[in-house]
Amino acid sequence: MIVGVPKEIYPGERRVALVPAVIPNLTKAGLEVHVETGSGLQAGHPDSEYAAKGAKLVASRGEIFQSADILTQFLCHGANDRNGREDLPLMRKGQVLVGFVRPLGTIKTLQDIAERGVTAFSVEMIPRTTRAQSMDALSSMATICGYKAVVLAADTLPRMFPMLTTAAGTIAPARVLIIGAGVAGLQAIATARRLGAVASAYDMRPAAKEQVQSLGGRFVELPIEAKDAQDARGYGKAQDEGFYQKQRELLGNTVAESDVVITAAVIPGKKSPVLVTKEMVERMAPGSVIVDLAAERGGNCELTKPDETTVACGVTIIGEFNLAATVPYHASQLYARNISAFLQHLTKDGKLQMNLQDDIIRETMVTHEGEVVNARVREFFSLPALESTSAGRSSS
Ligand SMILES: NC(=O)c1ccc[n+]([C@@H]2O[C@H](COP(=O)([O-])OP(=O)(O)OC[C@H]3O[C@@H](n4cnc5c(N)ncnc54)[C@H](O)[C@@H]3O)[C@@H](O)[C@H]2O)c1
Repeated sequence: MIVGVPKEIYPGERRVALVPAVIPNLTKAGLEVHVETGSGLQAGHPDSEYAAKGAKLVASRGEIFQSADILTQFLCHGANDRNGREDLPLMRKGQVLVGFVRPLGTIKTLQDIAERGVTAFSVEMIPRTTRAQSMDALSSMATICGYKAVVLAADTLPRMFPMLTTAAGTIAPARVLIIGAGVAGLQAIATARRLGAVASAYDMRPAAKEQVQSLGGRFVELPIEAKDAQDARGYGKAQDEGFYQKQRELLGNTVAESDVVITAAVIPGKKSPVLVTKEMVERMAPGSVIVDLAAERGGNCELTKPDETTVACGVTIIGEFNLAATVPYHASQLYARNISAFLQHLTKDGKLQMNLQDDIIRETMVTHEGEVVNARVREFFSLPALESTSAGRSSS
């Protein structure tokens, strides 16, 4: 069975789905890896490294799509909303696709993939279970985003992060506030602390308090309680506008006192709540920095410009998308391990094993045999449930 790695085509994308280090494990599992030439170059892996680990280098993109039984990419059609469509005519019936497909984005892109007869597995849908932890690509990318958000903020802020006592006087530490303490937010706290800042964080999920404190951050308590703050999978749940209004009022002073605000409050498949308004930005000191990690889903800050860095009221607001792609070496390393674990789960002795009794397979499979089959996706887009998938059909 051949696993094909086409070069990423999203403009500016520097990551690669598989790095040379994971190839021996895949070979041992009975999988042959074909890589489009130049795929890993911008992530620090020349073709020679792939060849040395046993991969076959293929110059033609068309040939990779033609020969692969399983294609693996970072941004597949759907997640690549710029030119991902170019891949569609190259896909063939019966092929398996594994990567980011943005399953709760638009139903049309999933239907496009289904119509090609491709079985797509969405890494966004990997369940949050101990068994699936090694495959959790969302957490891998969130970790990188949280780190990079702080590094960008530190570089932009006209102050230093650590407290310093010098002969010329004492420098106060930077105050960093993180709103939304999920995987990205927690990594931001840890990174800000390593750089010597005073880090505090707020999250509407009460469970986040202990995690923030365990990283040495101060948890900002607000006298409001979210209704069902967390769903069964551990994700934050959308609240009503009245709740967000109250949050904005209560967060106003804390935001105003911060040198850096990193927002990472997202709700899967929904527009991100606005938690930092124009008035709140106006109250921040000139030179302050906001990094809006929710920018791709509308942003947590009212003044965020999609995929841009702007200055408003003297405050720099960084709304760049896809920050994980700016750390291509480690983003690719983590993703490749996630994908390698997933592929080893999906195959046995070099053959596909699509057992729908298995929650990892069932929950990540979004298209199969011409249909959008995923129960969660169908419910999200108000499509009628498919009996065959909910019954746990087994297919290979
Ligand atoms: N395998 C596992 O068990 C596993 C894997 C990954 C994450 N997790 C846990 O799941 C939780 C969520 O992590 P995530 O990175 O997926 O989160 P996420 O990216 O979905 O959301 C980011 C955070 O924003 C918060 N948020 C949303 N709306 C908010 C609002 N209005 N105000 C304040 N905060 C708001 C959410 O509660 C969440 O913590 C974390 O506790 C994480 O540790 C568990």
